Formats: sequence, C-alpha cells, structure tokens
Amino acid sequence: MNTKNMHELDMDLVQMTMDMMKYAIERVSEKEPAIGYPKNEETLRQEIGNTITEQGIGGENAFKIFREKMLPTTVSANNPRHLAYIPAAPTRASILFDLVVSAISVHGAFWINASGGIYAENEAMRWLVKLSGLPQPAFGTFTGGGTTANLSALITARETWRNQKDPERNQRGLILAAHGAHASITNMAMAVDADIAYIEDNRDDKLDGSSLQKKIDHLSPADRKRLFAVVATAGTTNAGIIDELESIAEVCAQEKVWLHIDAAYGGGALAVPEIRPLFKGIERADSITIDPHKWLFAPYDCGAILYKNPAQAKKIHAQHGGYLDLVYKDQTGFNPSEYQISLSRRLRGLPFWFSLAMHGTKKYEEAIRQGLHLATLAADHIRNMEHVELVREPSLSCVVYRRKGWDKEDYIRWTLKNQKEGYAVVTPTQWTKNGKAETITRFCFINPRTKEDDIIGILNSMK
Ligand SMILES: Cc1ncc(COP(=O)(O)O)c(C=O)c1O
Repeated sequence: MNTKNMHELDMDLVQMTMDMMKYAIERVSEKEPAIGYPKNEETLRQEIGNTITEQGIGGENAFKIFREKMLPTTVSANNPRHLAYIPAAPTRASILFDLVVSAISVHGAFWINASGGIYAENEAMRWLVKLSGLPQPAFGTFTGGGTTANLSALITARETWRNQKDPERNQRGLILAAHGAHASITNMAMAVDADIAYIEDNRDDKLDGSSLQKKIDHLSPADRKRLFAVVATAGTTNAGIIDELESIAEVCAQEKVWLHIDAAYGGGALAVPEIRPLFKGIERADSITIDPHKWLFAPYDCGAILYKNPAQAKKIHAQHGGYLDLVYKDQTGFNPSEYQISLSRRLRGLPFWFSLAMHGTKKYEEAIRQGLHLATLAADHIRNMEHVELVREPSLSCVVYRRKGWDKEDYIRWTLKNQKEGYAVVTPTQWTKNGKAETITRFCFINPRTKEDDIIGILNSMK
C-alpha cells in the first residue's frame, strides 16, 4: 500500500515540479505559441483513455499526457495571429505572478484573510476607477470575467430598484439594451429573471440618447414601471463600437434608471488620452464592467466591476452566516465578496496588479495604442486590396471587413484552413444592417506583437 501522503514532498514531486517550472518558463518565453486545433471527444477518448484511477497515474505521466495529447488541441489566444473573438495577450510578469497566486492559497473574499493581497488588488482598482472618471466614492472589485461582472451589476441594479418599496416593483423587471450588447447581457437578464428589449442602432450603428428616449416613451405604462436598467456598450465585441454614452447617461438620469456600461473589451482604451473623449459620459454610469483579461494584458480569468456607489452593491452582495461573523467584526476592511456574486475567490486581481506595478501605466498606454495603430494599418491595407473591402471604418481595435464574393461557407473553409495549418485564427461573424444579415469577418487587435506582415499575410490568404 502506498503510505505516502498526497501532500508529502518526494522525489517524484521534485521531478514534476522541475518539469512544470521548466515548461512554464519555456511557454511564457515563446513569442508565437502554437495555435492548436480541436479534436472531437471520441478521438481524444481513443488517444488518451481514462486518466482518473484509484492509484493515480503519476504526475510525470499525467503532465506528459497533458503536454503531448491534450495541449495541442487547445488554442493559444495570445498567438499574435489570433485576431478572433477578443484575444488575450497577458504580460509575462502577470503570468508568472499568476503562478505565485496559485502557490499561496489565499482565500480572497475577506480582508481578514487577505488584507495585503486585497490592498494590492485595490491599488490596481484605484487606477481603473481613475480611468473611468467615476466620482468619489466609486470603487469596485475583480471578478471571474465580464459575464460575472455584468451579472453582479444587474443584480445590484434590480435589487436597488426593488428595494424602493413600491409594490409595483415586486414583479419581473425590464432591461433595455442595444442590439450590439454582448450575449452575456441577454443571458444574465435571464439569470436575474428580467425581460430584455432591444433598441435599434442609429445610422452610426450606435445606441444614442434620442433612440433610448424614444424607446422609453413607447413603453406601455406597465413596462415603464418594470424598467430598472439600461445597458450601453463601450466597445462592442463585434465591431468595437462605443455607444453615445453622454446622451444615454442624460436620459438615464432624467428617467431615474440604472445605467450599466459594459466596457469589458473597450475599457482598456480609457488609458489612451487621445481616445478618452470617445468615452465621454462613462463617468456618469452607475456601474461599469472592464475586463483586465481582455485589453489590459492580464491572464484568464480577470474581470472587474466598478460601482458609482459601492454601498448599494454591498447591501445586496454581502453574505451572512454564523460562520462569517468574525469576518465582519475583526480587522475589517474591504471585502471583495461584498461587491460581486462569488464568495471564495482567488486574488484574481493580483497578476494584473503585479504587472501594472512592475511596468507602470505608461507601458500599458503604449501597448493599447499599438492595438489601435494595428487596426488603422489593417484598414489601410484592406482599402488598397481588390479582393476585400471595409464594412465600416475601424472602431477601437476592431476592423470588420468582407471578402468580395464570399458566402458563409467560404469564410468557414478559410478560417478552418488557416487554423489547421497553425497559421492564424480569424473567424467569421454576422453583420446586420437595415435588417439584412451578412456573414463577414473581423480583426480584433489586442496583442502588441502582431506585425504588419501578419495582417498582410492573413488578407492574402483570402485571395
Ligand atoms: C463587451 C463584452 N462584454 C462581456 C463579455 C463577456 O466577458 P467574459 O467572457 O469575460 O465573461 C465580452 C466577451 O467578449 C465582451 O466582449
């Protein structure tokens, strides 16, 4: 019988540690990590088989299987030619510090368990709040991503609305959003058991104050009473579009409706002073989502939720139980669990904090500006090529364009070919204008290591 405890240090563990550290160092040093291609589950089952056994298969063996059989079927979102969805480009410093965060096993829900770590997270949060322009006492915390940040905000909005002691508010709420809002808004409306109604974009493909006002004016009296939140987007996932936040904020203030701004992707661009005016009005939001794992170069998973009035969120998200009494009584400070839906959490803002502290905010500004520059470059090349054309001018670091003469199947074939060859990940998307949907494609630039030649090569692969 194996008498060794799972947690005891033995030579196998030493060897495994060396292998993993060596691998992690090699992997973070790679400038172009392999893109990878998925396999179906049946194939993986045949190639790998069962890995969970009574006696264990050993660390070295499990790690070898992972490296050789599993990893090649996963996609590296930080390859510089991964320009689909919202890619990732975590700094080396943030990845290495993520290993430290795992090593320390700190429960990051409460100040009493994690004071110094939460202090560090809050340093990074203070920078985000400053970028947003939200007035005092605005503050927030780090979440598992944009979806949980959006959910945390919508729960706060709905409960704040409900708590206003109006019997009419004891019913299903209503959210208004633009068509360009991220899918998570639709799903999180379901999670808070609210209906969601969409507003047509204006000619610039944006939501603006007048179309919002028109939509509100056309609501039935019963629906107007159910309306508790408007969601605007500062950087749509598909095309990087920033809604007209200032006029939307004005309508929300007059109508006394919670304004949530989803800047999960676009929020990083707040760090670039010449771009900041595009976000005018964001400082009037009741809550804002910004994902450091998108355009702020943090590793997965790190989102953030910011509140204009954090006390409103605290009232709603704080969890109570006899076993938690102490956390509210001794050495109390900022408790991240009181501002979002999770209780147990890693100190997920720490990798972002470490990298920000190490490099300084100026480097972030420059790296984000590079994404904007790449979008401009890509648009210029598209304008100069016969076989492709812009669908609209680039917005933030998104460029939507079409290959003339292609249909959906052509885009899919091209995407899969590039990915199978380990060359690039650029996927099709849908673009709807005047009620007509079309399959097109898009670039989203996050990684400052993407080269002009990468852009040209990808465009040429569509010939
Ligand atoms: C605008 C926007 N909001 C929310 C999300 C969801 O964020 P997450 O995937 O971190 O949950 C995304 C993801 O791409 C996004 O682009």
